[in-house]
Amino acid sequence: MQTVEQIFEQNKTPASLVSAIQAVLTASKDITHLLQKGAMAGVLGSAEAENVQGETQKKLDVISNDLLKDTLKACPVVAGIASEEEDLPVVANNDGEYLVIFDPLDGSSNIDINVTVGTIFSILPSNGGDPAEEATYLQSGRKQLAAGYVLYGPSTMLVMTTGQGVDVFTLDPSSNEFYLTEQQAQITASTQEFAINMSNQRFWAEGVQNYVADLLQGEEGPLGKRYNMRWVAAMVAEVHRIITRGGIFMYPWDNRDVKKPGKLRLMYEGNPMSMLVEQAGGLSMTPDGHIMDIEPELIHQRVPVFLGSKEEVEVAMSYQNK
Ligand code: F6P
Ligand code: MN
Repeated sequence: MQTVEQIFEQNKTPASLVSAIQAVLTASKDITHLLQKGAMAGVLGSAEAENVQGETQKKLDVISNDLLKDTLKACPVVAGIASEEEDLPVVANNDGEYLVIFDPLDGSSNIDINVTVGTIFSILPSNGGDPAEEATYLQSGRKQLAAGYVLYGPSTMLVMTTGQGVDVFTLDPSSNEFYLTEQQAQITASTQEFAINMSNQRFWAEGVQNYVADLLQGEEGPLGKRYNMRWVAAMVAEVHRIITRGGIFMYPWDNRDVKKPGKLRLMYEGNPMSMLVEQAGGLSMTPDGHIMDIEPELIHQRVPVFLGSKEEVEVAMSYQNK
């Protein structure tokens, strides 16, 4: 079995980019161990703070954020970081080459029930910009040099791309090393599985209402096939399922709160997942086009997301103008 280091070597990944990714992986191993200790580590439950999105932070959100922040700040090639759990960018090393943007613990409402969560990361060039300035980070998803996630499930897995396809690694608990377990993962073009939070149905726009109504009609409806539904409530787990066996994941715009056009965040959820999905042959869209084509205006901006198996995402998009 090949280690992640051997794959970096094979792919001729620049040494500096490798060290930025390795910083994320080092922190992810610490997060794995804390999660595995669970209640015994005294890290479950909520901290008495709210993040910039107005959500209650879990203790482990804060701890994971701090672990990533400290490891990345100590990595000389990292100029700055932006995180779901930080209102403002954090300066690491002014002359660093990279910006690392992350969601330290995606799906954190799953922590207390011992269900899958994950760390999502996106790496952008700093281009000599000021890492203290939000504007330096506001680059489209097309500019990403690397993207990936570490999934903390029954096993800890790393799914990553540096623009040469998607490789999947599994953390060996005895050696604490990531080993390649699937090379060049590909998302099936068609699917019969969808993921959406159905409880928001009455808040969706008409196109999504019509599409999901047709999915539910199965083989008796215009789509002509029977669908299954899954919802883990952690984007990282939904994307992992889709990379593994295909599917479509949607978190569309809804009118629950006019200030929130969609729930997911563009820069540390939408963009890195889009790069992975499209590198694996899938499609990742928002009603106006590819998510990775969006020119961001804010680090914490939200985006409606439709991603997964190419043919199914195309079908979902065809309903948007109806
Ligand atoms: O980070 C936001 C997030 O937790 C995603 O991981 C997940 O897909 C979604 O929110 C779950 O949303 P809901 O609470 O509507 O099930
Ligand atoms: Mn998240």
